[in-house]
Amino acid sequence: MSIFSEMYFTPDEFSRIAKVEKSFISALENRGVLQTTKKRVGNVDRKMITLEGMQNYFRNLRASDSVAAATEMLMNGTGAVSAGPQIPIEAVAMATELAVKKPTLKKQMFYNVKGGTGKSTLTAQYVMRSAMMGYKILAIDLDGQGHLTVNLDVLDGHERPTIYDVLINDLPIEQAITEVAPGLDLIPANLQLCNIEIPLNSKPRREYRLGEAIEKIADQYDLIVADTNPAASILNGSMLVTADLVNVICATNPLSFHGMSLVMATIENMEREFRKKLNVKIIPNMYDAREVISQEVLGELRSQFSTWCAKSVVNRTADLNEATKRRTTVWNVSSKGTAAQDLSQMTEELLFTQPQV
Ligand SMILES: Nc1ncnc2c1ncn2[C@@H]1O[C@H](COP(=O)(O)OP(=O)(O)O)[C@@H](O)[C@H]1O
Ligand SMILES: [Mg+2]
Repeated sequence: MSIFSEMYFTPDEFSRIAKVEKSFISALENRGVLQTTKKRVGNVDRKMITLEGMQNYFRNLRASDSVAAATEMLMNGTGAVSAGPQIPIEAVAMATELAVKKPTLKKQMFYNVKGGTGKSTLTAQYVMRSAMMGYKILAIDLDGQGHLTVNLDVLDGHERPTIYDVLINDLPIEQAITEVAPGLDLIPANLQLCNIEIPLNSKPRREYRLGEAIEKIADQYDLIVADTNPAASILNGSMLVTADLVNVICATNPLSFHGMSLVMATIENMEREFRKKLNVKIIPNMYDAREVISQEVLGELRSQFSTWCAKSVVNRTADLNEATKRRTTVWNVSSKGTAAQDLSQMTEELLFTQPQV
């Protein structure tokens, strides 16, 4: 099991993720909507929420299926503790609205033909942050470098089957799936995947094989997210053919910006060739507000690609590198830091993106 799967949240962290006031937590426990546990920190027992506790809270509310029913569930919770503090209605509204939502665009990919823009880092953070909300998620590593696999702390990826075995050797896709944490599965990658282009090229229906494989298991998941290789490869093309949303990660530096016209041209070519319109979100990454060049690139992205540019921006922070090194989420590094805030905002934006096409 991964480092992420053993994560604990303080009441404060739970309150920020679930958008519930901290003073409400006991009421949620009494109502059976939230389970907490005691964990020894130093020489005191602290109230904590396990990853599964967090996920079950979201699932409990989501099972109620409507905002009205979820609100009822939370308000009754307040009633159960007669001496408990009154909860402002806005707090309940935000919490329930968030909890009952499902991802709007199920099949997503992180994409850029340029390397080093932060695709694998943000994919890993995105799937872990989404998993905290109790969704059932499948991450797929489509890059032979296996950085998503490493970021998710699956260190024996080189011994496991990959999407290569599924697309070339007809391995049933279920057999390529490995569990990273409760609610989070992964199809890992290893160096063999770097050699997939030639055998894939000679397969019948080559661009449709990935989509057809994913379709077989899509019902089991709320969200399927692929990290791709930095090239205009057939493998990436196959993911573009099946994706509902393409998240283009663009670093806020001049070369990354320059490369954007190539990325958008690749997407347009795919749209023409496969007669399909794609939803695209451009996410500016590694932003540094102190640098004029960073500000300029962000401004250009927002003006030239206004239809697609995300509201969220991911700042350049040491926390993201630290999280990569520790193979876990930025929440484990610093739950109040800029990176945790940026990633939370990005996650909510991408989970609930309204389709444009
Ligand atoms: N916002 C950020 N702030 C600081 N470092 C970042 C940020 N985003 C990514 N990185 C770092 O940049 C490097 C390249 O990121 P990576 O996700 O591997 O890019 P890609 O998958 O696009 O090739 C990694 O070391 C990663 O930790
Ligand atoms: Mg990568």
